[in-house]
Formats: sequence, structure tokens, C-alpha cells
Amino acid sequence: MTATTEMIRLEKIYKRYYEGKQNELQVLNGIDLVVRKGEFVSIVGESGSGKSTIMNILGVLDRPSEGTYYLDGTDIDTYSDKELSRIRGLKIGFVFQTFNLIGRISARRNIEMPMLYAHVNSKDRALRTDELLDMVGMTDRAKHQPNELSGGQKQRIAIARAMANDPAILLADEPTGALDSKTGRLVMDIFHELHEKRGKTVVLITHSKELAEETQRVITLSDGEIIKERPGRNYAKYYGNKQTAVDTDDYDTIDGEAVDYDEDGFETDDSDDYEIEDFPRSKSGSSTTRRGVRA
Ligand SMILES: Nc1ncnc2c1ncn2[C@@H]1O[C@H](COP(=O)(O)OP(=O)(O)O)[C@@H](O)[C@H]1O
Ligand SMILES: [Mg+2]
Repeated sequence: MTATTEMIRLEKIYKRYYEGKQNELQVLNGIDLVVRKGEFVSIVGESGSGKSTIMNILGVLDRPSEGTYYLDGTDIDTYSDKELSRIRGLKIGFVFQTFNLIGRISARRNIEMPMLYAHVNSKDRALRTDELLDMVGMTDRAKHQPNELSGGQKQRIAIARAMANDPAILLADEPTGALDSKTGRLVMDIFHELHEKRGKTVVLITHSKELAEETQRVITLSDGEIIKERPGRNYAKYYGNKQTAVDTDDYDTIDGEAVDYDEDGFETDDSDDYEIEDFPRSKSGSSTTRRGVRA
């Protein structure tokens, strides 16, 4: 395995269903994508554009029909299925829109599950579970079963479970899709913290433009192709800029000039859109710092 700053590299990835049959369906259409270690990226695109298919490939739940996936520097084709499932369990955490918790067992037990598969001893499991419950603010709900928890609480438990074996990568497929905006905000803050404080590589699929703009890089998928990549417009608001970050309402004028916003409340000026070649961009060198941020 070679040392690399790249966590994920997809080269010319194609995914076809019903391959060779009359109803063959090509869902991914030559995807090239690099995600660096510690990066927080979002994937956006219409329903059916192939987002979940990419996620399943990134999470080695599924293999591509064609193309190469280097995970942390290694071509996954060099791994057996058994090795891949081990790597998945240790290196990758998943969060889904519908939580996918196991019913009739406690939140604590759900969080412990990946550690059981990884043969972590009971004492270490208990300590780690306490830590994870605390991380997501759910210590007082440890004994509750999923059906005794709200959507947001379920998702917090699901995030704790995803982080059980301290994976380097967190993959989240519409994690706030079933939550109200306030609860979604809470979940997003946990992702920010995992990225910023714990150095996790986070890939977030979302329908929320607002949340996507908070990530380092927004990748737009259409019909199985990446059609655009650019920095998230509000990423800098969360990093390096916290002391001066202010609400969007305060951006009505920049240096005294009126600024236009689209229906989502974002500046209509698209000059900060970048071509794919501009990536990867460094966190500290980010030019997404809003001009309107005032001391
Ligand atoms: N297991 C499957 N078998 C056949 N077709 C599939 C399968 N999974 C997804 N598809 C098709 O692939 C396309 C992309 O699906 P998906 O990746 O789930 O899109 P998204 O997550 O962007 O909504 C859709 O047309 C979908 O019907
Ligand atoms: Mg999907």
C-alpha cells in the first residue's frame, strides 16, 4: 500500500445494471473523482442521477462494472470479498436517510454492533459506547429502543454506530432527508465536528442546497456523470472564520453595494464557480470566505 493524501480515487467508473441484457441500464457513466483525506464533500443531483449508486461503490457495498477504485491508495480489486468486508467494517461508517437501526434492541446495543463484528472485547466496547453516546449527546437515551426515539435521536444513534470502529471515512446518504430542518442542523453539526475535530473524510449526499454549501466541495451529478465541482459557499463560515461568522441576513450589502440572492438565499454571482481542474483545494487556502464577513 502506498502512502497517499487521497482517501478515495475513482477512475472511469461505470455501473450497469442488467448487464448484457436487453434492458441494460447504465447508471454511472465514467466517474472520475478524488476525495482527499480529511475532506468534507457533498454530492448533489436530481433523484435517479446515480448518487446512491456511487455511495454504494465508495462504501464497497457494491463493485463497479468497469473502472478502478483506489481506496486509501489500494485498488480494491486486489482485495478478496472477505478482505473487503473487513475493510468496510473498520474503515467506513454509513449513515442512511432511514437510520437503519435494529429494532427491539437498545440504542447502546445498536452502537455496539459494529464492534461485536470487529471482535472488540466487552470492556472496550462499553467504554467506546459511552464515549460515542456522549459525542452525539444521547447518554440519557442509551437504554431506549429505536421506536422510543425521535427521528433526530435515531439519526444521532446511527451516527454513533457509524463511528463505532473509528472509521476514517463517513458516508452519509441523505442523512437529514427524513428530519425537520432544526434536527437536520444538529446532525450536520455533528458531521462538521467529525470533519474538523476528528479529521474524518466525510461524503454527504444531500438534497439540501443549504447544507451542501457548508461543505468544502459540492459535486453535482447528472445522469451518472459529474457535471460540476466547486467550493461550498458557506464552508468558510464554519472553519477559520467562526469568530466573525454572521447570519446570512447580515450580507444584504457588501461594501455598501446591493447584492442579489437567488430563491435559496445565495448570491447569484457565480464567479466563485470553479472548473474541476481547480481541485483539490486546500482548506486554509479556501477562497470561499465570504467577502461580506466583517470583523
Ligand atoms: N439495484 C438496482 N437495479 C437496477 N437499477 C437500479 C438499482 N439501483 C439503482 N438503480 C437505478 O439506477 C438509477 C440511479 O439510482 P440511484 O443511484 O439510487 O439514484 P439517486 O440516489 O441519485 O436517486 C435509477 O434509475 C435507479 O432506478
Ligand atoms: Mg439515492
